[in-house]
Amino acid sequence: MNIAVLTGAGVSAESGLKTFRDSNGLWEGHDVMSVASPQGFANNPVLVLDFYNQRRKQLLEVEPNTAHKALAQLEKNHEVTIITQNVDDLHERAGSTNVVHLHGELLKVRSTFDEDLVLDWKTDLNLGDFCEHNHQLRPHIVWFGEAVPLIEIAAKIVEQADIVVIVGTSMQVYPAAGLIQHAREEAPCYFVDPNPSIHSNSKIKVFAEKASTGVLKVIDEIEKM
Ligand code: APR
Repeated sequence: MNIAVLTGAGVSAESGLKTFRDSNGLWEGHDVMSVASPQGFANNPVLVLDFYNQRRKQLLEVEPNTAHKALAQLEKNHEVTIITQNVDDLHERAGSTNVVHLHGELLKVRSTFDEDLVLDWKTDLNLGDFCEHNHQLRPHIVWFGEAVPLIEIAAKIVEQADIVVIVGTSMQVYPAAGLIQHAREEAPCYFVDPNPSIHSNSKIKVFAEKASTGVLKVIDEIEKM
């Protein structure tokens, strides 16, 4: 079967990465807009670069959890695409081979002059780190107020899916949250989140629990189909 999996910060929570909205809008102690918007970067680039340097360092210290691994295993029997809002690489490290990063990637940076000039980056990024055109490099992250270039590709993937699985997202950030509207009428949908923003109905079955246990239950149901 063709399965589209939409993930958010909750899938990485049990690996030790904080979600955004579980801490009153503060993200690792920062106002989200000051570190995740173009205005924030213009106002205080050192703060923003340092913030992502810390996130990058932290990412290299954590590991994929049971949920990431189980989703990777789904590829054994199915065609699976993970559409993630997360900028971590835990799905890939767990073994998923088909991952669309809607909001960018922490282990990449890009030129402020040419957004298509993207480089792999595992260490700190500092003011004065330039691209080949001598322009400052910035995190390869989709900040608030910026376009989401992969959203149309993601919508097509959801339209083509036989099953849609959503894990660990507050479904508050658009356009990502609107992807569920693209699911085919006959495609069963599952939603795993301990504090779900959606209730079960004829179209969607909700597992109000952590990703590590809920994903296994969803996979159980899929394998019984
Ligand atoms: N397992 C599953 N879900 C969990 C877990 C867990 N162990 N712990 C928390 N959650 C759920 C929360 O209940 C919440 O619904 O994860 C969700 C996290 O929601 P957000 O913090 O809003 O994260 P997300 O939906 O991914 O945010 C979307 O917002 O700031 C932007 O660009 C950023 O990609 C991000 C986007």
